[in-house]
Amino acid sequence: MADATVDSSAFFKIGYGLYVVTSNDGVRDNGMICNTVVQVTVDPPRLAVTINKANYTHETVKKTGRMNVCTLSESAAFSVFQRYGFQSGRTADKFAGVDSIRAANGLPVPAADCNSYFALEVESYVDLGTHGMFVCKVVEAKSLSDVPTMTYAYYHANVKPKPAAAAAAGEAKKGKRRFVCKICGYVYEGDELPADYICPLCKHPASDFEEIV
Ligand SMILES: Cc1cc2nc3c(=O)[nH]c(=O)nc-3n(C[C@H](O)[C@H](O)[C@H](O)COP(=O)(O)O)c2cc1C
Repeated sequence: MADATVDSSAFFKIGYGLYVVTSNDGVRDNGMICNTVVQVTVDPPRLAVTINKANYTHETVKKTGRMNVCTLSESAAFSVFQRYGFQSGRTADKFAGVDSIRAANGLPVPAADCNSYFALEVESYVDLGTHGMFVCKVVEAKSLSDVPTMTYAYYHANVKPKPAAAAAAGEAKKGKRRFVCKICGYVYEGDELPADYICPLCKHPASDFEEIV
């Protein structure tokens, strides 16, 4: 990415959908927000799902070989992203209090926030360094509603609180500094950015943040 011919802002122009990837570690259900889902073949139908190795979901799916990809609807609230995307299943019980349904494989689907789901079995795994790509067979697929699918662009425009809205809600305390992750756009607020800070979205280190002035 240090290559002068690679304009990092171009990556924000790639269109994505947003999904909850669910799994179970043998004790409890878990889910994480994911945008890197793509259909790669039609016959048989396969999806490829790319997951950061630091995420608990990576560990669980590598161990069990199973996951569900649940397609988020535009009606999903920011709290859905906070629940599945801003905390780890290593420490949080993300499905506590969630009214979910089950796919035939037994894994959960947060149906109130999703318009379809795909139950997947891992066929092959590609080690991509920081991430692993799971190439999966679709063993079940079901459409749940006609509410449009949440895209990354829709999330940024309509779901993610704007700094002004966050300030109005009292989330941005007066005098706090703001640092943006140059990789994914996540904004950290505080007196200073801790040297060992890791971006909760893309897992890049503090050196990839710059202060917004
Ligand atoms: C909008 C959004 C998109 C995300 N996309 C991905 C992704 O494509 N791949 C990934 O590994 N993590 C992605 N994340 C981060 C994970 O959802 C997050 O690290 C989560 O806490 C991991 O949970 P786990 O440790 O329980 O698996 C995304 C988060 C958000 C909010």
